[in-house]
Amino acid sequence: MQAIVLVGGEGTRLRPLTYGTPKPMVPIMGVPFLARTLHRLRDAGITDVILPAGYLPQAIVDYFGDGSQLGMKITYVIEKVPLGTAGALKNVEEHVTGSFLVLNGDILTSLDLGAMVAEHRRKGGIGLIHSIRVDDPSSFGCIVCDSDGCISAFVEKPPKANAPTNVINAGTYLFEREVLDLIPAGRNVSIERETFPAIIASRRLYSYTTDDYWMDLGRPDEYLQAHADILAGRMPMLQPPFPIRSYVEADATIDPAAQLGPNAVVGTGSTVGPRAVVRDSVLWDGVTIEEGAVVEGAIIATGATVGRDAHVHEDSVIGHYTAVPAGAVLEKGSRVGATAPISR
Ligand code: GTP
Repeated sequence: MQAIVLVGGEGTRLRPLTYGTPKPMVPIMGVPFLARTLHRLRDAGITDVILPAGYLPQAIVDYFGDGSQLGMKITYVIEKVPLGTAGALKNVEEHVTGSFLVLNGDILTSLDLGAMVAEHRRKGGIGLIHSIRVDDPSSFGCIVCDSDGCISAFVEKPPKANAPTNVINAGTYLFEREVLDLIPAGRNVSIERETFPAIIASRRLYSYTTDDYWMDLGRPDEYLQAHADILAGRMPMLQPPFPIRSYVEADATIDPAAQLGPNAVVGTGSTVGPRAVVRDSVLWDGVTIEEGAVVEGAIIATGATVGRDAHVHEDSVIGHYTAVPAGAVLEKGSRVGATAPISR
């Protein structure tokens, strides 16, 4: 079994974070998200991984190399232009030897990949799509299936009142190699809009619904919620007891008179000064929160500084190496930092 992890998206909704870090490398509890995904694959016994990349690919290649340090084999295929979620699969066809898993590079889930592989072997068919139930399916792709799990329709982003079901595509797939024959070559193809309907027109494709934790990390609020869920023990990643008020890397410096938490994550080499307040926020590496500054509900990227007595309000994002001046007030939903891709 091989795995293809889609890592070529621009992550526009996470800007300015994704101007300095491609979305798959965004840290979750201090570790690049893609590293966690690769560990999950390895734990399931899958060590042959293909990474279709394209946006800031060097950051990914520099971190993982050929995969040997992880005991894995990683093959990179760099797209000159984005080929979309199915076009990217077609583009790596020459490296695919048999059945393969496909993982979106931005889904945090407790799904047991080994159990999914076993389910596919039991069911047969050309593939299996992991699905979950949600309260409101209107911003997702709905899956309609029979009692055996065989999919009959996909309905993209239905209005809540008209949604045919609350079962949604959860972004992890397992396919037989023939699926690649159904994807046109050389152009941008969306797996959700083009390939899934093409598959179910002629072949049996199954839905695999589980009750796992699941979060798409595409938006800043989702990224912050994922950290809150990990600290609360809803997503299994840390050791109990839960809830954990704040998570601080060993070499971060927190002044005794600072207030941390709830839901504060402080990265390597970061500093939180006297009387500063950090809650419901994630600080990446080398961040400085100066004396008296208040950060609530924000993401602060690598090397950024929040100046003395500044106040960063909810749902704000501060980009890499950006300085928020002393005394500044950043209103709810602020985006501050680079406006184009940077590399340092
Ligand atoms: P937004 O711009 O914020 O929508 O993010 P995105 O396009 O990076 O991610 P989206 O959620 O739309 O895509 C789901 C997954 O597919 C992510 O892991 C992306 O990295 C990946 N992806 C999206 N488009 C492409 C593409 O054209 N090529 C490759 N190789 N991967 C892609």
